[in-house]
Amino acid sequence: MAKAPVRVTVTGAAGQIGYSLLFRIASGEMLGKDQPVILQLLDLPQAQKAVKGVMMELEDCAFPLLAGMIATDDPAVAFKDTQVALLVGARPRGPGMERKDLLTENAKIFTVQGAAIGQYADPNVKVLVVGNPCNTNAYIAKATATKFGRVKPGNFTAMLRLDHNRALSQLAAKSGRDVSSLKSLVVWGNHSPTMYADYRYVTSNGDNVKALINDETWNRDTFLPTVGKRGAAIIEARGLSSAASAANAAIDHIRDWVLGSNGEWVTMGIPSDGSYGIPEGIIYGFPVTTANGEYKIVQGLEIDEFSRDRMNFTLKELEEERAGVADLLA
Ligand code: NAD
Ligand code: LMR
Repeated sequence: MAKAPVRVTVTGAAGQIGYSLLFRIASGEMLGKDQPVILQLLDLPQAQKAVKGVMMELEDCAFPLLAGMIATDDPAVAFKDTQVALLVGARPRGPGMERKDLLTENAKIFTVQGAAIGQYADPNVKVLVVGNPCNTNAYIAKATATKFGRVKPGNFTAMLRLDHNRALSQLAAKSGRDVSSLKSLVVWGNHSPTMYADYRYVTSNGDNVKALINDETWNRDTFLPTVGKRGAAIIEARGLSSAASAANAAIDHIRDWVLGSNGEWVTMGIPSDGSYGIPEGIIYGFPVTTANGEYKIVQGLEIDEFSRDRMNFTLKELEEERAGVADLLA
């Protein structure tokens, strides 16, 4: 018997990430090749015509799994009964900006959308915030939505998967190993240059990749800055922020959350439960495994002095961002 369709909301549907994302969701790459979807597309009033154009193209693909779609500029409609919500719609940064420079402008979007999710979404909705600065925007959406008492804080996540995938590619190139053989990477903290891509536990076919590379200077002077500043390097090269790789990471994040990571570690920005000394509630990149629609933080990892310094550094930035939006949430 055919499965019941899953309602998927995508905000910023007329944007560049939206254009890389929607066709892959509709073709079954996110929720499975046997899972029909209904797309609920939210964008601003002035973008509705462009959203209609994207919907025409979606129709023209004749995707067997696309069971329906709507376009709206009303969050109450877009989030009604939604089971998976991808919060992409927000202003991207330009050259010379940091992601946190977007906070004042973008934060309000996430109070409005958080409130709509809190009132109208399916109570088990899985929310991924992509719009930057994504950790703090997820924090805002979580804080606003959970006031309505229907959706739990743990349902709000932020996208660190792009950083995870970027780090995997750099490690594969440096070690000469296949990217698919690399296991047990984590990117701790904020989706910002302060993030800490921690490769101490990475293995490839049983070999420790840090030992294979055996070059701590490369770690500090090349690997960490390359991963941390990759978003800016793409803006510099393309004149626009990453889009297809961001959409790909969003698909990876939700697919693993819904369908399971088969015991492998993946990085998700999630509300801390206090693990590893990260204050409860902060949205922080953690290593998790996923099964049955739930994520679980990988426990028991040794945190050496270098790692603790890096984890505290990225935490401090998140605490500053949180303080910056305290008024908005009061
Ligand atoms: P874009 O400018 O191409 O598209 C943004 C879309 O969002 C536009 O269609 C705009 O009309 C819409 N929008 C703006 N405010 C909205 C609102 N209140 N409700 C609904 N829609 C709204 O931008 P993009 O390149 O698609 O990037 C979107 C966001 O994703 C940016 O904030 C960018 O920095 C972020 N991003 C995050 C990551 C990550 O790894 N977390 C990666 C890449 C980009
Ligand atoms: C990225 O990492 O590519 C995105 O967050 C876009 C940006 O502003 O860097």
